Amino acid sequence: MSYFEQLQTRSDAHIMRSYGPPKGAFVRGKGTVLFDGEDQPWLDFLCGLAVTSLGHAHPAVSKAIADQAELLVHTSNLYLTEPAIELAERLAKITGWDDASVFFAQCGATANEAAIKLARKHGKRIRDDKVRVVTLSGSFHGRTLATLEATGQPGKHEAFQPLAGFVDTVAHDDPDALRAAVTDETCAVLLEVVQGEGGVRPLDAEVVRAAREACDAHGALLIADEVQTGIGRTGPWFAFQDTDVVPDVLTVAKALANGMPIGACIAHGEAGRVFEPGDHATTFGGNPVTCAAANAVIDTIERERILTTARARGVRLSEGLQRFVGFVPFAIGVRGKGLLLGLELDRPVAAQVEAECRERFLLVNAIGGDLLRFAPPLTVSRQEVDQALKTVEEALRAVAETTA
Ligand SMILES: Cc1ncc(COP(=O)(O)O)c(C=O)c1O
Repeated sequence: MSYFEQLQTRSDAHIMRSYGPPKGAFVRGKGTVLFDGEDQPWLDFLCGLAVTSLGHAHPAVSKAIADQAELLVHTSNLYLTEPAIELAERLAKITGWDDASVFFAQCGATANEAAIKLARKHGKRIRDDKVRVVTLSGSFHGRTLATLEATGQPGKHEAFQPLAGFVDTVAHDDPDALRAAVTDETCAVLLEVVQGEGGVRPLDAEVVRAAREACDAHGALLIADEVQTGIGRTGPWFAFQDTDVVPDVLTVAKALANGMPIGACIAHGEAGRVFEPGDHATTFGGNPVTCAAANAVIDTIERERILTTARARGVRLSEGLQRFVGFVPFAIGVRGKGLLLGLELDRPVAAQVEAECRERFLLVNAIGGDLLRFAPPLTVSRQEVDQALKTVEEALRAVAETTA
């Protein structure tokens, strides 16, 4: 039995089957490369679902974790520790919000839960029934009950109905429908400026503008879910910074601590003063080890000017994929921003292409049947981009041969 098969057997025995069949097993990683049980290197263009943006085992992050773990691992939210305060200060700086106020959570869903609760409390201060949240079709906001309901993918709701019924979902490409859906009962519009899990889809600038205008007209908060797009994934620190709209609340998670579990709900202005003692809490919030990792992430990105090189790599990958269109089987378009990119296929063969990439030791992932998602680390090299492009081309041609 291979290492992978051994782990799979043990996993089948005792890990709940909420996930699909595993696609590999890894022991260690360095930069863009993962190593399996046989020490085979794999090129990782998915980076733990847009998480390990500085690459695997980044020395500055590993050192920050180890140093903090030797000092102090946990105290709870009853006491202050410096790494959390330092991280909140850094988040204030990179959002550009001097009065940013941060709630630390554990992941994207719990950051969004905090944002939704904050918005509902904001709404109820204005009128008792101002608790509805408007979201967009194709969005993904998490798997807790509130964030699941806010996720604009009805298929994911089915097994858990009835849900609470406080969400109105409108088409992601219809600014007028969005304006019409926001009423005096709306406490927030929740959106991803670039939809991730729903298919690597940048929202039209007019939709983002409509959301801001509708929120202003009805006293609702605009919440930008930057769980996937935040920390440089689409180019700037946050995707909203490439738009002419500023949200009231922003959520971030995934890449913030390069793989340590963390989430943050960041509010400013009046929204930053909504929560009062007792309104919201979590035992692990602001954990010093995860916050130390996040501080090292932001520090490294700033010191090594990684956002600039990442933008250049994004252009290289995007242009490389664009060259497939019309020349390589199935490829019909490229969408996304920065280093969050999708190759559109003309038929539902993305899972087969993903599998052919795996045969060639490249990790990418299929979304929705006809899209291949790329989310390599921001530190990916030119050579690695070129190598991945070559492998994807081979994989597309291999699938074309088998389906011919
Ligand atoms: C935009 C967005 N929001 C929220 C989430 C949920 O994050 P988590 O899985 O950390 O709970 C995700 C996860 O993919 C996401 O992409």
